[in-house]
Amino acid sequence: MELTNIVKRFPGVVANRDVNLAVRPGTIHAIVGENGAGKSTLMKILYGMQRPDEGAIRIDGHEVSFRSPTDAIAVGIGMVHQHFMLADNLTVLENVILGYEPRRPFPLWFQVDTGAARERITELGRRYGLPVDPDELVETLGVGERQRVEILKVLYRGATTLILDEPTAVLVPQEVEELFGNLAELKREGITVLFISHKLDEVLSVADDITVIRAGTTVATRKPAEVTAHQLAELMVGSELPTPETRESTVTDDVELTVEHVTREEPGARPSLDDVSLRIRRGEIVGIAGVEGNGQTELIAAIMGMLPVTSGTMSLAGQDITHWSTRQRREAGVGYVPEDRHRHGLLLDAPLWENEILGHQSEAPNSSGPWIDRDGARSRTTEIVERYDVRTPNIDVIADALSGGNQQKLIMGRELMAGPSLLIAAHPTRGVDVGAQAAIWDHLRDARRRPGHAAHLR
Ligand SMILES: Nc1ncnc2c1ncn2[C@@H]1O[C@H](COP(=O)(O)OP(=O)(O)OP(=O)(O)O)[C@@H](O)[C@H]1O
Ligand SMILES: [Mg+2]
Repeated sequence: MELTNIVKRFPGVVANRDVNLAVRPGTIHAIVGENGAGKSTLMKILYGMQRPDEGAIRIDGHEVSFRSPTDAIAVGIGMVHQHFMLADNLTVLENVILGYEPRRPFPLWFQVDTGAARERITELGRRYGLPVDPDELVETLGVGERQRVEILKVLYRGATTLILDEPTAVLVPQEVEELFGNLAELKREGITVLFISHKLDEVLSVADDITVIRAGTTVATRKPAEVTAHQLAELMVGSELPTPETRESTVTDDVELTVEHVTREEPGARPSLDDVSLRIRRGEIVGIAGVEGNGQTELIAAIMGMLPVTSGTMSLAGQDITHWSTRQRREAGVGYVPEDRHRHGLLLDAPLWENEILGHQSEAPNSSGPWIDRDGARSRTTEIVERYDVRTPNIDVIADALSGGNQQKLIMGRELMAGPSLLIAAHPTRGVDVGAQAAIWDHLRDARRRPGHAAHLR
């Protein structure tokens, strides 16, 4: 497959300019680049979701032009998006066959042949090492399993080229290993894989070719044996990288958050939280590690007051908050960077400045008395865009128009600029490029030196 001189413009931005990319069939080809470099846009063009303004796509030497993903699927190109797109309230089987339902033979052709679908899904799962239970509801699945369903969905449609936009961003190390095992299996079966990642070590371990995109343009294609992660990062940024500095500890003796013996019993299942205790001091950063699905999500939801606990207590700066609402906790200065930025962090159809207000409606500078202060919110948004390096033409574009990593930077900026006394951040650097990751860790280290500052803002 070959892309030549692809150009794609959006209002105020050239997302792709003169992109040239050759993908060898049956290989794993990685695309790397900074947030907003144009990677997702390019993949969407290849999948028929966006139409290029200029340039050509050739498959097996024939020029193709896609009006929609249906056209791309017809020539065997499938895509799994940066943000999953499964319907939660449907089963695995229903999601996989959605829009491609097999029909029963005449005269029952109006009925979906679920038996045939189930067999096909099980068979695909076995062949590519992607086991799933077709009858399980998607809402009950963990992230790794959802991804497997997304991949199966694409294979079910007959894809021979699989595009994965940041597939590992949401996975824990064990799941990444599994996914890479799956990709190797797919490659053995002759499938071409194109994938985007910000994790350069992973890219080096799994890809056959690596293409770097910088500011919308393809700047280099390398084989893993020929480059190091550091060199790739420099190609992405276009200059030498600064060396990270180490800093002194800022941990104090004051306890900010205490979680004691917190248990959450689940009807008919084992508890999702089983006697969890932890303590976070002012100025301290506590990391929580573990295999996804072992209660991390529930713990965060419990601390944020979004999931009631069966027993145990929580206190914030000495005050019992066990029965406080989410709103009360937020107003007491608890900042929150959610795991799923689309579901809990942003209003995708609203402009950036309205997103800045989200969760901080009753704080300065977003409100004066009972009213929303539009000018205050707008100037705060501008400040966030500058300080957190959110790449956007202006603050009136909708959140959906930002690249994934820039959406994350906006959320981080919103939460940190509010001056929280405690910040609960789930995967704060998810989907963020190496340079911006370093910047986010820097912002967090700065923030821990001035805790408690939220109290003055209210
Ligand atoms: N639908 C859209 N409308 C307007 N601008 C857009 C749209 N989609 C993308 N852009 C802009 O095009 C540029 C490239 O975005 P793209 O999503 O391709 O970046 P990316 O390389 O995938 O970044 P990330 O690593 O953060 O996901 C960005 O400046 C983005 O704001
Ligand atoms: Mg992207």
